[in-house]
Order: sequence, then structure tokens, then C-alpha cells
Amino acid sequence: MDILLFGKTGQVGWELQRALAPLGNVIALDVRSKEYCGDFSNPEGVAETVRRIKPDVIVNAAAHTAVDKAETERDFAQLLNATSVEAIAKEAALIGAWLVHYSTDYVFPGDGDKPWSEDDATGPLNTYGETKLAGEIAVQKHCPKHLIFRTSWVYAGKGNNFAKTMLRLAKDREELSIINDQFGAPTGAELLADCTAHAITTAMRKPEVAGLYHLVASGITTWFDYANVVFTEAQSAGYELALKQTHPVATSAYPTPARRPNNSRLDNRKFQQTFGLTLPCWDVGVKRMLAELFTH
Ligand SMILES: NC(=O)c1ccc[n+]([C@@H]2O[C@H](COP(=O)([O-])OP(=O)(O)OC[C@H]3O[C@@H](n4cnc5c(N)ncnc54)[C@H](OP(=O)(O)O)[C@@H]3O)[C@@H](O)[C@H]2O)c1
Repeated sequence: MDILLFGKTGQVGWELQRALAPLGNVIALDVRSKEYCGDFSNPEGVAETVRRIKPDVIVNAAAHTAVDKAETERDFAQLLNATSVEAIAKEAALIGAWLVHYSTDYVFPGDGDKPWSEDDATGPLNTYGETKLAGEIAVQKHCPKHLIFRTSWVYAGKGNNFAKTMLRLAKDREELSIINDQFGAPTGAELLADCTAHAITTAMRKPEVAGLYHLVASGITTWFDYANVVFTEAQSAGYELALKQTHPVATSAYPTPARRPNNSRLDNRKFQQTFGLTLPCWDVGVKRMLAELFTH
């Protein structure tokens, strides 16, 4: 099986390189790739890549993910998150390839306190969410053999992440104020990649699984509670922190260019039931990532 991976250097793309390897021949590209175009600012270029490689499966981990920046570069975000995705979806349909694509909790308006299900009405609060929603719709419209995974609060051991930022701040500061009115599930890039590989294997045998799924770790937290798990783990690993006190604050305490939803709870039961997997609680992956961090 030939698998074309776009966005190989992102958090999820990096883990996909590992997780997809046992499934077949992986051709992994990023924006700098030379032999084939992997640049999503060039829709015709990425479509031509699909035409030339003719893969059995395309996995798209590339995206414009700078949520605040997207507010001032809407056209660029739309180009990366929707226009190029549409071009790939059309090309995938022509060659009968599967298209695996990621989307976000930010397609929802964020009100209420119920976990969103796949059938709930969308209503993004910001440009990033609008462009990601347009990408989802394009995939659904143009490529019937698709798997779309909406996820949330993605972290990875590689690169920067929320936990590392909190640790850095807690080394120097005695007090930290952290948002406590946004609810969601931190989801590891490792988990996303492993579940993606499993879902692709299932789709090869059972094409009827094509569709849209919420793929997030189980359980719910806030940024405040998430940060406190990070500090507790750090202290028990003997990591020195100056931090003495954490304060829960409302989102309004940190104004940002892009509005963020308060309720980012995603109901992951459809994914678990369809693919026969159990998605672990969010803190399992976070603690594992921290344990790796503390041993280096
Ligand atoms: N991060 C989150 O919290 C989160 C939450 C919900 C959903 N998601 C979705 O999950 C998926 C994976 O996200 P992630 O967390 O792995 O994001 P990420 O680490 O920001 O990775 C995105 C990748 O896209 C690449 N990219 C940027 N501009 C590009 C271009 N013009 N052409 C090709 N590639 C380009 C980036 O490359 P450079 O690094 O070189 O710029 C990066 O490798 C995305 O669809 C995202 O929308 C993420």
C-alpha cells in the first residue's frame, strides 16, 4: 500500500511517520519538499503530487494552525485549510484513494456543557475554525472515501507545548494565573497517529466506516487543572519549581485576537464503537510525555 503523508514535520505528522510505517510505503512531504510539492499555499501543486504518486491513502496533517494569526490572514488560512484540501479531495476521488484529514473542536460555538457529537450543528467563533470547517465540508463533498478526525488541545513531546510552557514559567514565578473556564481533552499526537493507523487498516477491510469522527482522549479538564497535573508530576519527579500558588481565572483575563470556545468537550463514543478501541483518559498521555521530559 502506498501512503502519501502531507505535513510530516508537524506534531501529528511527525508521529504519523512512525505509526504509518508498518502499513506500507510512506511518502512523507512537508512545505520544503523538492521532488513533490507539499506546499499548501499551492493547491495545483499538491493536486499534481496526488496525480503523480497515485497513492492508495492520503493522510493530511498539514494545516494553518496559528489560531490568533489566522484572524489577520484569513485568505492564507483559507488557502491552506480549505482550498488546498479541496484540491486534494477532488484528486483523491479521481484515483479512488482514501483521504484522512484532521479537524478541530473549534468548529463548534462552545456554549453549554454537553460534549458535542458529530451530528451537532457547527458554528465557529474564529477564522481558524471557519477555515477548518470549510476544509471538512470540501472533503465530505468531493471524496466519499474519507476519514475526518476532529480533535482538540493537541500536544507532543517534540517541540513546544502547553505543559513545557507551564514548566518554564513555574521555574521562575511564584504565582501563576491560568484559565479555568475552557473545558476540553488534551490529546497526544502519539495517540492520534496510532488511532489513525488502526482506522486506516479497518477502512481497508470495511469501507463503510468512512465518515467524520471525534477523536480525542477521554475525560475532561481545564487549562488550570491540566497545569496543576503538570506541576504535581514535576514535583514528584524532583523537578525544581519556584511556583507556590496557582490562581484559576476566566478567559476574559487573557484577551486574544481569536475568540475561543468555552465548551470544547467532544463525545468520542462513535470513534471507539466503530473502530473497537478504548481511548485512554487524557492524563495518561500527558503523564507519559512528562515522564519522558523529566528523564532527559
Ligand atoms: N494543535 C492543536 O491543538 C489542534 C487542535 C485541534 C485540531 N488540530 C488539527 O490537527 C492537525 C495537526 O495539527 P498539529 O497540532 O500537528 O499542528 P502543527 O504542529 O502546527 O503542524 C501543522 C503542520 O502544517 C505545516 N504547514 C504550515 N504551512 C504549510 C504550508 N504552506 N504547506 C504545507 N504545510 C504547512 C507546518 O509546517 P511548519 O511547522 O514548517 O510551519 C506543520 O508541519 C491539523 O489539521 C490541525 O488543524 C490541531
